[in-house]
Amino acid sequence: MTDPTPRRPLLPGWLVLTLALLLALGLGILASSINQRRVEARLVRVQFMQPLEAEEASPERWSRSFPRQSLAWQSSRDPAGAPAFLYEQVRDFLVERPRLAVLWAGFPFARAWKWPRSHVHSVEDVVGTPRIDEETPAACWACKSSDAPRLMTRDGLEAFYAQDFEHHKSEATNPIACLDCHDPQTMELRISRPALKEALQRQGRDPEKASLQEKRSLVCAQCHVEYYFKGKKENRLTHPWDEGLTPEAFEESYARAGHVDWIHPISGARMLKMQHPDYELSQKGPHARAGISCADCHMPYITEGSARVTDHSMRPPSRNLLAACQVCHLWSEAELLDSILQPQLATRQVREQAEKVLVAAHLEIGDAARHGATDAELEEVRDLLTRAQLSWDYVASANSHGFHAPEEALRILGRSLDLAGQCRERTREIRATMGRREPVPIPDLSTKAKAQAFIKPYEEAAR
Ligand code: HEC
Ligand code: HEC
Ligand code: HEC
Ligand code: HEC
Repeated sequence: MTDPTPRRPLLPGWLVLTLALLLALGLGILASSINQRRVEARLVRVQFMQPLEAEEASPERWSRSFPRQSLAWQSSRDPAGAPAFLYEQVRDFLVERPRLAVLWAGFPFARAWKWPRSHVHSVEDVVGTPRIDEETPAACWACKSSDAPRLMTRDGLEAFYAQDFEHHKSEATNPIACLDCHDPQTMELRISRPALKEALQRQGRDPEKASLQEKRSLVCAQCHVEYYFKGKKENRLTHPWDEGLTPEAFEESYARAGHVDWIHPISGARMLKMQHPDYELSQKGPHARAGISCADCHMPYITEGSARVTDHSMRPPSRNLLAACQVCHLWSEAELLDSILQPQLATRQVREQAEKVLVAAHLEIGDAARHGATDAELEEVRDLLTRAQLSWDYVASANSHGFHAPEEALRILGRSLDLAGQCRERTREIRATMGRREPVPIPDLSTKAKAQAFIKPYEEAAR
């Protein structure tokens, strides 16, 4: 049986349509008013801002208009914010891991490498490090001082890079601060470093078109990345990103550029020092994959009185779990801390294995060379060692000790162990043809002083 009277809809069609339209309109107005308010907040900020010079580097000048951000930035001078992992470690990496002096023999890092401190310390720390010598180029200042953009504009980029480090010392006095990340007229985030713009452009990306969320990472990628100084005289700061961001891609970029950082005085291998590929490594991690930026964890939103501001103290996130992580993860503080420490401890374990194997590989090739193996015979094993150490160094010198991208860090260390294993196997065969079958003794490398004393004669002979 069919129903003879057609069912009347609860509401007539025209009414449903009108209601839907009104709802859509209402939501639109709400959304645009939120957006409007954001835009207004920005305009008000700029309108009431004390005018700044085009390239005003001094954070004191900025602090008049933005006391909250300035005070927070200043407060990072307070050492109370040490990262979790630090509690088991010493600040001097060479004291804690003396083998590093052997791996970097012949390069300034064998003299000193310390845990990073907050941005307010950047100038005093770079001036104080024993890595600086008469060969240090001016390009170093690009990542240490907010006077760098000012001096680059004033002198011209080529002239800025072509000087030596000493040349800018009296003028590069402001540490990393406001001008590094903000446009002094509009307060918008900006990329102030030409090297990053150039690297993005070579990849076909337009830095001007980056979204706000991308910029919240790119401002950090101005410095927390891998780089080299291109050209013996030009010393142009360059990011080797043309082939990609992995260690495999860097190998290719450096091979194409014909760039080598130094020759290892023990093994004779051509070495490439990784700097701090924080941005690159983190791109393979779960957070970057989910579109989360550096600032989301390192500069979380906080409320101060009635204002919602971005935390400019940039304390290590493990000292700031509530603001940095709980906004997204409903985990307890203990669980969060554990989720940081677990990948860090796993990374450390495999990284230490790689360090032992790499030291042995340098000594074994050195032994073969001393007993008559020719450069041609050693070409292949030296090349394997170059690549093995580059991979290890990519993880070892990236910050966060594995947390930013745990699986990728372990994959890369696995690659390092594999390449170093191949290197040692081939070297063993070469030594055997020379009648040298006994293992090469590993010296006592239990302290920084002993490791540095061990490499000294090799460094002097190579000079
Ligand atoms: C390392 C980069 C960096 C440095 C250095 C930096 N800022 Fe910021 N700043 C940011 C980021 C990221 C945001 C968030 C922008 C957004 O999401 O719209 C921000 C936001 C702001 C805002 C907008 C309000 C807020 O808190 O969200 C002001 C104002 C500001 N910064 C002022 C300053 C001042 C003043 C200094 C120097 C003492 C400074 N910043 C140094 C990265 C930086
Ligand atoms: C102009 C270069 C530059 C920019 C831009 C920059 N950094 Fe740094 N950062 C450094 C240097 C150099 C150090 C080490 C300073 C020292 O040890 O004296 C450092 C140190 C740090 C530390 C260690 C601080 C501590 O107390 O342990 C963190 C975390 C950090 N940066 C995060 C960031 C984040 C996040 C951004 C982007 C929002 C950023 N940095 C932007 C150069 C920069
Ligand atoms: C999911 C959160 C998260 C994101 C996103 C993130 N970090 Fe980190 N970062 C951490 C944690 C956790 C540590 C370990 C230090 C600690 O215990 O707090 C760390 C450590 C660091 C350190 C070393 C601090 C020190 O004193 O040892 C630097 C520098 C750093 N991160 C820079 C970056 C940069 C640059 C980006 C973006 C490319 C980024 N981080 C993205 C959470 C994050
Ligand atoms: C803006 C949001 C956001 C913030 C802030 C954030 N996370 Fe995450 N986190 C995520 C997302 C999204 C994922 C990816 C989840 C997935 O893939 O299933 C993730 C994944 C993780 C994972 C790996 C996946 C798992 O379940 O084991 C860990 C560990 C983690 N976060 C820890 C932290 C810690 C520690 C902090 C603070 C330093 C933090 N996160 C900050 C959103 C965030």
